[in-house]
Amino acid sequence: MSDYDPVQVSALLPESLARFRDEAVAAFAASSTLDDLAAARHAHAGDRSPIALANREIGALPPQAKADAGKRVNEVRQAITAAFDARRATLERDRDERVLVDEVVDVTLPWDRAPKGGRHPLTMIQELVADVFVAMGYEVAEGPLVETEWHNFDALNMGPDHPARTMHDTIWLDPPSRGVVLRTHTSPIQLRALLDRGAPLYVVGPGRVVRNDPIDATHSAVFHQVEALVVDEGITMAHLRGTIEAFARAVFGEGLKSRMRPSYFPFTEPSAEVDLQCFACKGDGCRICSGEGWIEWGGCGMVHPNVLRASGVDPDRYSGFAFGMGLERLLMFRHGIDDMRHFFEGDVRLTHAFGTEL
Ligand code: PHE
Repeated sequence: MSDYDPVQVSALLPESLARFRDEAVAAFAASSTLDDLAAARHAHAGDRSPIALANREIGALPPQAKADAGKRVNEVRQAITAAFDARRATLERDRDERVLVDEVVDVTLPWDRAPKGGRHPLTMIQELVADVFVAMGYEVAEGPLVETEWHNFDALNMGPDHPARTMHDTIWLDPPSRGVVLRTHTSPIQLRALLDRGAPLYVVGPGRVVRNDPIDATHSAVFHQVEALVVDEGITMAHLRGTIEAFARAVFGEGLKSRMRPSYFPFTEPSAEVDLQCFACKGDGCRICSGEGWIEWGGCGMVHPNVLRASGVDPDRYSGFAFGMGLERLLMFRHGIDDMRHFFEGDVRLTHAFGTEL
């Protein structure tokens, strides 16, 4: 009863169908990942797979052959589906087991192995000093590192021929005739604050300064100062002394005396050098203070009337005090650091010693 063309429908021959099934089963078995298996399914059970194409041939068969071929095709499709399901179940189980192993979290491992940096002690001390003064009602002032000669010198009562200018070992930007310097002290910050805001004024200004100094254990061409300026009615040297004592207490702890020695700065009159009792030996004399019992801490004085005038403040109504100190020196004394160069070498062992306090 072969009244249909066996060549045209060779895809439906039992041996063809058996081959499709065997190839599908082999391809599933050979798939070692779920992705491979999905690709094998597409090739052997997808819309354009041999078995799907064979299924489409059934419609062209004479009625008596349809049932027969349909049954054979169905059996093979079921076999292919079953082989796929079985392989998928196996691969999914393998994957789940692998994930359990691969993604296991060992809660006993140390969690802090990422190396931490440290904030630089100069940054921290500037913030500490700013905090101390803000707590006393001061504002924090800033100014440019590249400064005009006028702000750095002239307005601070240091005219072009003033001998004190030579003490500053100034670095001038080219050409020097332009009158632009790298600021040699933080006093121009104070001046700018006074020019901007006028009196009364309570400001503190930490900042970087530059002098053409050779670098050694106690000197650096680039260093940091902090300076405070108060201008108000009735300000006296007693206020200056009290403020310095409060500052010393905040930075070095209780019980250290400070003292003032007469000195000279063009922008203050009278002027004084501030010494602080050695925090290590409390005045007995030790290695840190070279047996002196005192350490030089900074300069201070009552703001010179010429500086007030240059800032547009009436010196008959207002008076003020200013003081400034080097921050590297402060840190060296406070922490027994023997070489200023440590601050500029960027060695994390120094910053680590100060912790990562924010
Ligand atoms: N600006 C001075 C210096 O750098 C320090 C100072 C500040 C002195 C304020 C007196 C008043 O040497």
